[in-house]
Parts: sequence; C-alpha cells; structure tokens
Amino acid sequence: MLGETVITRAELERAVEALARTIEADLEGRDPVFICVLKGAVYFFTALTQRIRHPMVVDFIQASSYGATTESSGTVTLIKDVTVDIAGKDVYVVEDIVDTGLTLADVVALLRARHPRSVQVVALLSKPSRRKVAVAVDFTGIEIEDRFVVGFGLDFAERFRNLPEIREFVSDGEATP
Ligand code: IMP
Repeated sequence: MLGETVITRAELERAVEALARTIEADLEGRDPVFICVLKGAVYFFTALTQRIRHPMVVDFIQASSYGATTESSGTVTLIKDVTVDIAGKDVYVVEDIVDTGLTLADVVALLRARHPRSVQVVALLSKPSRRKVAVAVDFTGIEIEDRFVVGFGLDFAERFRNLPEIREFVSDGEATP
C-alpha cells in the first residue's frame, strides 16, 4: 500500500532543474545522445531533456525489471535496444533510480561495447546503501535511504508511475497492490 510522500513535486522540480544546469555545463563541445532507460525513467527523462539547452539526440532502451516484487532478481535482459548509432558520441544514460546497480552495470557495458566517445550516467535517485556492484553515477539528483518508492515513473507491479510525487510503497506480501 502507498505510504508517506518521500519527495514532493516541488523537490523533484528543483532536483531536475539543478541536474539540467550541471549537465549543461558538462555538454560544451560534446555531441550527446541521451538514452532513457524505460520505463521508469520516462517522466524524469522528458522533464530533464526539455530543460537542457544543447543540441542532442534522444533514444530509448529497455532492460528487464523486477516484476511483481520489491527485490532485485539480479538478472537483466534487454527488451528494447536503441536505434541510433552511438559510435563516437557522448552518451548520457538516464536512469530513474540506482539500487543494487546491476541493471545499470549491464546497460553501461552493453553501450560501451559500441565504442561511444564517452558514457556517463544520470540518475534521479540513488540508494547507495543497497549497491552490490561498483558503478559510477556521474550525476545524481537525490540520494534516498533503503525504502521502496513509487511515482514520477517508478512502479510497483506496473502501477503508480503516474503519481506526480515520490511516495513510499509498503509491500503487504501480495503480488499486486
Ligand atoms: P538495480 O539493478 O537494483 O540498481 O535496479 C534498478 C531498477 O530497479 C530501477 O531502474 C527501477 O526500475 C527498479 N527499482 C529499484 N529500486 C526501486 C524502488 O524503490 N522503486 C521502484 N523501482 C525500483
């Protein structure tokens, strides 16, 4: 069931704006491709990229997610690949949340194999205490403690993505809320 609000809409807007300014400063002289990791990052991705005043290409990738549980399975499969050629480009991987880091590590390895000029990671949220693999997050919005959250793109069993704020989700043992 839904718990308390962890991050308000106003706090999210401030975090996105701050990230946009920092990334803009990093973009000088670069030829960027911003890659949204579906589905969770989609709300963050559209908010962020619209605030960045720099020419860019956008694309989408989808890796497997948790399913109807709040624990990571540790196995990641590619469901949808990007369609643009990223060789020689500056890639910005845009994630909703980095938890164990397993998803991100796989996605970054897959993209690096295609010889981009650089790969950097942007994450709206990070749970550093949960990390299982060392993966560099170059731009982090907000660090949170170890609690399962939904809203602003984040789901539990595909639900709650459209909530405008980030709320805690407390599992009651059911597969679906
Ligand atoms: P990781 O591979 O454990 O880092 O998990 C990354 C993915 O798990 C994210 O892109 C989310 O889709 C999902 N995830 C991790 N923590 C949460 C959470 O608190 N709420 C909703 N989804 C989460």
